[in-house]
Amino acid sequence: MRRFVCPPDYAFEQLSYNHNRPSFQCEKAPLVKFLREQARQDQDKGMSKTHVLTLATHPEPTNKPIIGYFTLANASIPLYDLPHNARMSKHQEIPATLIARLARHQNYRKRGIGDILIHYAIDLCLQAPCAVILVDAKDEEAFKFYSRHKFQLLDQNKKARTRIQRVLGMFGLRRAIGYPARMFRTTASVRTE
Ligand SMILES: CC(C)(COP(=O)(O)OP(=O)(O)OC[C@H]1O[C@@H](n2cnc3c(N)ncnc32)[C@H](O)[C@@H]1OP(=O)(O)O)[C@@H](O)C(=O)NCCC(=O)NCCS
Repeated sequence: MRRFVCPPDYAFEQLSYNHNRPSFQCEKAPLVKFLREQARQDQDKGMSKTHVLTLATHPEPTNKPIIGYFTLANASIPLYDLPHNARMSKHQEIPATLIARLARHQNYRKRGIGDILIHYAIDLCLQAPCAVILVDAKDEEAFKFYSRHKFQLLDQNKKARTRIQRVLGMFGLRRAIGYPARMFRTTASVRTE
């Protein structure tokens, strides 16, 4: 397993007052609102931790630009939501880390920022006592992004999506939505890759 190395132009920091939250923009309004209005408060209450990607060369200690961010929270998952081959223990509840939010600034499209964010998030998950990494894909684009990073749909979601597909089919609608879709990767699969 290769450890994450941040490209030299960038640096990861924990979200603080030194970061310029109002200037962050991305395509998904709820992800902008969360960063601006809620992330720091949740962090203060110990609900989650938000990590921001900033420029390594920013000249001042304050007003640092946010190129991207993700938020981690502790979670757990019922063993039977995992597919058979991923049921690694007999515990009924499996410790997990949820990558609750992840977004890059819209001015940084197509520069691999999503990859940097997810690799560092996974690296932090490996250092926590968690067996499973969870994400919630909010739409098809996010689903493709997480699939590219080897996340799979949970069994529970697969069943729900099949049901939705069947109902939509009855009304002659071709595509099933079924979002947000909860997806997972085991930390064991990351360690052995
Ligand atoms: C999901 C997200 C983080 C992925 O970021 P990303 O991997 O850096 O990719 P971008 O969205 O900037 O751009 C995607 C395109 O850039 C391309 N790309 C990625 N890295 C690249 C690189 N280093 N050089 C050139 N192109 C690159 C991809 O192949 C893709 O091309 P396509 O549109 O032709 O398929 C980003 O789209 C985002 O922040 N979206 C809004 C928030 C969101 O939906 N978050 C998901 C949580 S549910």
